[in-house]
Amino acid sequence: MDLPFEPYRIKVVERIHRVSPQERARLLEEAGYNVFKIPSAAIYVDLLTDSGTSAMSDRQWAAMMTGDEAYAQSRSFVEFEEVVRGIFGYRHVIPTHQGRAAEGLLFATQVKPGQVVPSNIHFDTTRANVEHVGGIALDCVADEGLDPKLEAPFKGDMSLAKLKAAFEKYGAERIPLVMLTITNNSGGGQPVSLANIREVSAFCCEMGVPLIFDACRFAENAWFIQQREAGYADKSIDEICAEVFACGDGCTMSAKKDALVNIGGFVCLNDDQWALELTNLLILREGFPTYGGLAGRDLAAIAQGLREVMDPEYLAYRIGQVARLGRHLDELEVPYLHPAGGHAIYLDARAALPHIPQEQFPAQVFTAALYLEGGVRAVEIGSLMFDHLDPDTGAVVHPALELVRLAVPRRVYTHTQLDYVAEICARVMRNGPRLRGLEITYAPPALRHFTATLRPVAGGPF
Ligand code: F0G
Repeated sequence: MDLPFEPYRIKVVERIHRVSPQERARLLEEAGYNVFKIPSAAIYVDLLTDSGTSAMSDRQWAAMMTGDEAYAQSRSFVEFEEVVRGIFGYRHVIPTHQGRAAEGLLFATQVKPGQVVPSNIHFDTTRANVEHVGGIALDCVADEGLDPKLEAPFKGDMSLAKLKAAFEKYGAERIPLVMLTITNNSGGGQPVSLANIREVSAFCCEMGVPLIFDACRFAENAWFIQQREAGYADKSIDEICAEVFACGDGCTMSAKKDALVNIGGFVCLNDDQWALELTNLLILREGFPTYGGLAGRDLAAIAQGLREVMDPEYLAYRIGQVARLGRHLDELEVPYLHPAGGHAIYLDARAALPHIPQEQFPAQVFTAALYLEGGVRAVEIGSLMFDHLDPDTGAVVHPALELVRLAVPRRVYTHTQLDYVAEICARVMRNGPRLRGLEITYAPPALRHFTATLRPVAGGPF
């Protein structure tokens, strides 16, 4: 039977509600067509993010109850550090309250104004944190990762040619570190191959520049390597992770993804001096080095979540559930970035709404329409999130991809609920030609997609 079987049963449930279409229309208008502003109580299926939305296991909840809240050297930190070291293998483990705090510490201490940080594709918070300290965030994903229709196993791979060109253009002294995002969230949740990780690592070694992983979805990436890369079918997820992380010098991690918790993060580093500099800033910004802005119980839940995420049966179910949603959308002819990502499906808004130009935010239009049609909340990963100014010319640059991400929380929704989501996507497609573009009425200077408000072009309701 072609079903991704759940390797768990449900012990606790949470009631959700469907609000009327009229109410949804009112809420959407009030929210300035920005679904971040819609109350969660008025959302039926919430696919805004897979971050911090996991259902924790009975063992994680048990760990929460027995966490050690000592300010310094708590037992929960010792356990957390041991589990993190066991998977990632780096010498220093620095807890933070979430991923962007880890990035903030890394870039604030290691990136100087005018310096350049290449990645396959920076996530919005890594880009913003690099830019916040005056650095330039450079995306170097291989071209095949930018073609939404192409079926390829590792569309998160970095282009070595683009990376080399960056070193030629800026010089190694202007590049303090290289990042690799696994899986590549902003490019469709696509995995990075070990072959690519090895060649990027070898080049970084040659240049004398550290390679740091943005490791949020490292276990999902390892599962794809096991399933898709020649020579890894018989290796365990642990062995693959060990090989991946041995290629780098450290990582930043949002535990809100593959550590299966609702809050948390960390940085791992091998370099003693870097670790010292980050830790000094950590004490100022986050907390003492053995809790880093978290409660002891959070560290205990992360440790347990990291053990659970390495389970191949869990990963097969997890990635299988997303793939199943993809197959359903294929049947309904809803265009999305192929193949399905590890944690999400990325609808291709330019293909879905070809009549709406990129400056009128077609992906945001589709996102708003999903809410209006069925109370489904997705997130725009397109020009509202990623428009930026060209560092050389100052002109507005639209991102290459205009996507609507359906991020699937871990262990939360049933296959039936995702079938409903697919049907709502198909309905929005059918109404597509009637939808109009959006224009911004308010935008903050950074990370504008979170709080911007919009209205339909040429006035009137949506
Ligand atoms: N890096 C990647 C690749 C991410 O996907 C995220 C968060 C972060 C860093 C930052 O971590 O949220 O704990 O501060 N992504 C979430 C998302 C928000 O919806 O994809 P954080």
